[in-house]
Amino acid sequence: MRQDGRRVDALTGCHLDALTTARLLVRMPREADRERFVELFCDEEFMVFYPGSLTEEEANVRFDHMVALCQTVPFGKQPVVESSSGLVVGYTGVDYIDFEGKTWLEWGYRLVSECRGLGYATEASQALLAKAHQTYTGELLALIAPENLASMNVCHKLGFTFWKQAQVEGDIRSLYTLVVG
Ligand SMILES: CC(C)(COP(=O)(O)OP(=O)(O)OC[C@H]1O[C@@H](n2cnc3c(N)ncnc32)[C@H](O)[C@@H]1OP(=O)(O)O)[C@@H](O)C(=O)NCCC(=O)NCCS
Repeated sequence: MRQDGRRVDALTGCHLDALTTARLLVRMPREADRERFVELFCDEEFMVFYPGSLTEEEANVRFDHMVALCQTVPFGKQPVVESSSGLVVGYTGVDYIDFEGKTWLEWGYRLVSECRGLGYATEASQALLAKAHQTYTGELLALIAPENLASMNVCHKLGFTFWKQAQVEGDIRSLYTLVVG
């Protein structure tokens, strides 16, 4: 605990506090979230614009990865909780990706279908991006399918700018970057 009352991780010095927005909570994943995320990662509708939904085993591995990443990157992909319902409705944040010989932090977000179109992705991501600005200096990448207009809109609202189109793991993607810090 710091003198200003904010909880920090003893090893990394990263803030552990949940972020509260008008309608959402963006917070670190915890073991109790596993069942929900496994359900979501196995759901085709949730995983739209991804090569496919995951098997239960893959979903568990992905959840483990989410927890591990968030222990070192304070703006790693993490749960977005709807305050009114208390439900985990998606995630936002970064993960590592290798592209053109370099390891990047790639920003991504995903919401359950009934919570899309409400501005939640932008609201949650702006809050977590503020943490990225405080804790990291560098360039972030976003990879978006050219037909995913909703995601492009969010990306623009977060301040990312178009870089180029490129083949990423076999698919054409629009690449966007944002310098933080
Ligand atoms: C992409 C996604 C996270 C956006 O979440 P969201 O909370 O609905 O986004 P927001 O409401 O903050 O903003 C979406 C914007 O795109 C617009 N939009 C939504 N659907 C659209 C569509 N099909 N075509 C064009 N614009 C669209 C919205 O009107 C909004 O724009 P506005 O702020 O100017 O009104 C959500 O749609 C989702 O989970 N999609 C499936 C997973 C996915 O595609 N993830 C991103 C992979 S790169």
